[in-house]
Amino acid sequence: MRTTIGQLARGVTEGQRLVMVTCYDYTSARLADRSGVDLLLVGDSLGMVMLGHDSTLPVTLEDMVRAARAVVRGSTRPLVVGDLPFLTYTTASDAVAAARRLMGEAGVQSVKLEGGAEVAPQVETLVQAGVPVMGHIGFTPQSVNQLGVRVQGRDAPAAAQLIRDALALEAAGAWAVVLELVPAQLAAEVTAHLSIPTIGIGAGAGCAGQVQVWHDLLGLYEDFVPRHARQFRTLADQIVGGLDDYVAAVRAGDFPGAEHAATMDQQVLAQVRG
Ligand code: KIV
Ligand code: NA
Repeated sequence: MRTTIGQLARGVTEGQRLVMVTCYDYTSARLADRSGVDLLLVGDSLGMVMLGHDSTLPVTLEDMVRAARAVVRGSTRPLVVGDLPFLTYTTASDAVAAARRLMGEAGVQSVKLEGGAEVAPQVETLVQAGVPVMGHIGFTPQSVNQLGVRVQGRDAPAAAQLIRDALALEAAGAWAVVLELVPAQLAAEVTAHLSIPTIGIGAGAGCAGQVQVWHDLLGLYEDFVPRHARQFRTLADQIVGGLDDYVAAVRAGDFPGAEHAATMDQQVLAQVRG
């Protein structure tokens, strides 16, 4: 049975921290399903880690729907959230159309969109139409050209605005809100102001839950570990090592072995040879 928003909310009131990880494909979803993670985020970070773009801006709804379908197919237990891509929720009717594809076609249980009070009308429309919405404030990667990649809410006006944005999302009906790159004390303050869960990334331990990018926490990038991430495994080394073992085995004639292919009747072979 897939986890529901109600179950997650009950867990939070009982003091349980929510654990979310990004996921972009079927095989990874199968693995995540076996782990204890509560939520999978089909994040538009897929534009960077899966497609090699240098921001999330080029990600299309098509990219998201295809990945979300695969993640939904590969998982049975965690709640799946899908990001609405850049410029697909500028108006409430655009937001509804995009959510229809991600929820209706791909089968995610919730969508996530970036922004505070300015997107409250879209959030309200979606929620009233039956689409659970997760907000996302602080550093919002779709606004990288306005914000730069930096911690948000450091001065008093920006901190006050962040709290107002969080409250506006809650009032509009969002069921949770991601806080990205926000000082730890401010994230704790926002968390205390809200009755819905906060999910932090680079926002300290005072949030109701945490989210991390799959590739960051499993060490699939070797050269760069963001400050907010910990490599719980270093899979890049494992993968390169496995590929090198394959290359060596083929070159040495050790692979494939006799057991890796079918054989045929010798008499048939003789006939073919004539
Ligand atoms: O797309 C993404 O990976 C995200 C998380 C960083 C919250 O939005
Ligand atoms: Na995202």
